[in-house]
Amino acid sequence: MSKIFYPNREFSKQARIKNMCEYKEICAEVDDNYEAYWDKLAKEKIEWLEPYDKVLDESKAPFYKWFTNGKLNITHQCIGRHLDTRKNKAAIIWEGEDGSRRIITYLLLYYRVNRFANLLRNKFGIKKGDRVVIYMPMIPEAAFAMLACAKIGAIHSVVFGGFSAEALRDRIIDAGAKLVITADGAFRRGNPYLLKPIVNKALEKGCECVENVLMVQRNYEEVDMVEGRDHIYNDLIKQESEFCEAEVMDSEDPLFLLYTSGSTGKPKGVQHSGAGYILWAQYTMENVFDVKENDTFWCTADVGWITGHTYIVYGPLAIGATTIMYEGVPLYPDAGRWWKMIEELRINQFYTAPTAIRLLHKVGADEPSKYDLSSLKVLGTVGEPINPDAWMWYYETIGGGKCPIVDTWWQTETGGHIISPLPGATPIKPGAATFPLPGIKAEIIDKNGNPTPKGEKGLLCITKPWPSMIRTIWGDPDRFVKSYFGDCKKDGKPVYFSGDAAIYDEDGYIFITGRTDDVINVSGHRLGTAEIEGVIGHEEHVAEVAVVGRPDDIKGEDVFAYIVTKKDVDEATLIGNINALITKEIGPIAKVGSILVVPGLPKTRSGKIMRRILRSIAKGEEITQDISTIEDPSIVGTIEKLFKEKNRR
Ligand code: WT7
Repeated sequence: MSKIFYPNREFSKQARIKNMCEYKEICAEVDDNYEAYWDKLAKEKIEWLEPYDKVLDESKAPFYKWFTNGKLNITHQCIGRHLDTRKNKAAIIWEGEDGSRRIITYLLLYYRVNRFANLLRNKFGIKKGDRVVIYMPMIPEAAFAMLACAKIGAIHSVVFGGFSAEALRDRIIDAGAKLVITADGAFRRGNPYLLKPIVNKALEKGCECVENVLMVQRNYEEVDMVEGRDHIYNDLIKQESEFCEAEVMDSEDPLFLLYTSGSTGKPKGVQHSGAGYILWAQYTMENVFDVKENDTFWCTADVGWITGHTYIVYGPLAIGATTIMYEGVPLYPDAGRWWKMIEELRINQFYTAPTAIRLLHKVGADEPSKYDLSSLKVLGTVGEPINPDAWMWYYETIGGGKCPIVDTWWQTETGGHIISPLPGATPIKPGAATFPLPGIKAEIIDKNGNPTPKGEKGLLCITKPWPSMIRTIWGDPDRFVKSYFGDCKKDGKPVYFSGDAAIYDEDGYIFITGRTDDVINVSGHRLGTAEIEGVIGHEEHVAEVAVVGRPDDIKGEDVFAYIVTKKDVDEATLIGNINALITKEIGPIAKVGSILVVPGLPKTRSGKIMRRILRSIAKGEEITQDISTIEDPSIVGTIEKLFKEKNRR
């Protein structure tokens, strides 16, 4: 039996959803009339330019459409509509790693975004539907760029600044981007680092679609500029007008693409559309974080991930909140940096990842006591399962035992939270994402839709469409259907399968146990094993490779590679070569933690590598699976022996 923590009474009184009865009432209301519930929310929360005619169109399932023929512009929702009541309120408070700050009020944000949008439209000829790749550090201009695209109807695709030139190039080409927005660089661990040279390298070959590069000067380092192609934002922006006509967008027009890893092949461009996405961003800001008018909200993610999209930029701005953006790393200048920021900026809701919590606990357990963290009201976690130890430290040391922890389960594909406690209502248990949000039908089932008995692992599915769901994979609708609607059915109808396994405990709480597919989650970053294997396979000594996740105290999982070599090589050289290649082709986030050289891999008679077995070995588990279908069963014992020998050393 795990511990249970009840919401604080004072907190519940002021919360939007105050107790489990209210939660159940809303769930019942949704059950009675699914569309009416969304209809009510969409009318209440969104300022439409033109009303929609239908709430949910299922005629082309699983290509669901929400709020069909409604017209809106997301920037009106995030900026324009706040100007009457919040023009001088801080929209974004940015802190540089060196401690400098910039405060952008809603009115100033409005002007910035308008100027940026004018620049894109007038100087670069960007039109509705064009794709713009944003490869930026954590500076306010990254948010301005996203919103400027939204203002003129361009589709942004933010690429995380830690990805390599090759990874950036792949994403630019797949999206067919006309423009790349970047910065000269930024600061990390006290030192300048550069992004523009990576963009230059990405554009060296194969990116004919790119006409222009717009570079924001952040650290004023010397970087190469290509005449005619590259432009400096800081010079051009001054000439643009502070007023800009917004493009009238359909509910279903794409708002952005965000590339994420799948179990096979290249990363997929997850496509989101505007209306449903923004509705869900708002709904979860209000109900999951319970953000109120004078609160200051801080999500520590990078804008290059979905968490940064929804909970640094779109969600907080859509509800007119103050959002924090921090440029640097949590350990600079020491492990107290984040706690110092919480004290100084009086942060009310703090949202981070288990990997960061574990790191800050391990390297700086005493740091939090040096700061006043009493402004905190709600703590959040996301990205991977959180272990009870890290949860308890977060709850007691950071939250002072008074802040509910919302363990939010969701994905790039879901757009916003799907399963999470409600801070004023849900009694929480360490490690449990608890229950689906009101309005969401998330269930643990088997492939045929039968509910999984309590205590047993099953497949985590979302069995009804929801407004902020992925619309398709950019340029590959068949892959969309196959990836998400190909595995599970309920009542004979394909339903969305997340790729995660989960368990109901004896009280019906949902505990996420992790991916069922060949996706590894390192520090909350999603990596496809196929992608990494593809890169390792190019190393000259490598004959065959299989990559799996291996448990790691800080990162959650680490990349572990089994390698069959074709010529003799010492391990240090091999791992060095491999990581240099991975850094070049994908980025340092995908580096392997360790390797094991083996004489062969366990395969079925048809030649498929049996990863389940390799995963078990890497976890140090006994092999309980049936190995009789392996072509050469003795290989399992050999690999196990090598693994044990290596780990004894
Ligand atoms: C995968 C999605 C959603 C934003 C960050 C990651 C894992 C996410 C939790 C959680 C356990 C979690 C899942 C999921 N995950 N949140 N609270 N508990 N696991 O987005 O890169 O699309 O990754 O992250 O495995 O499928 P993403």
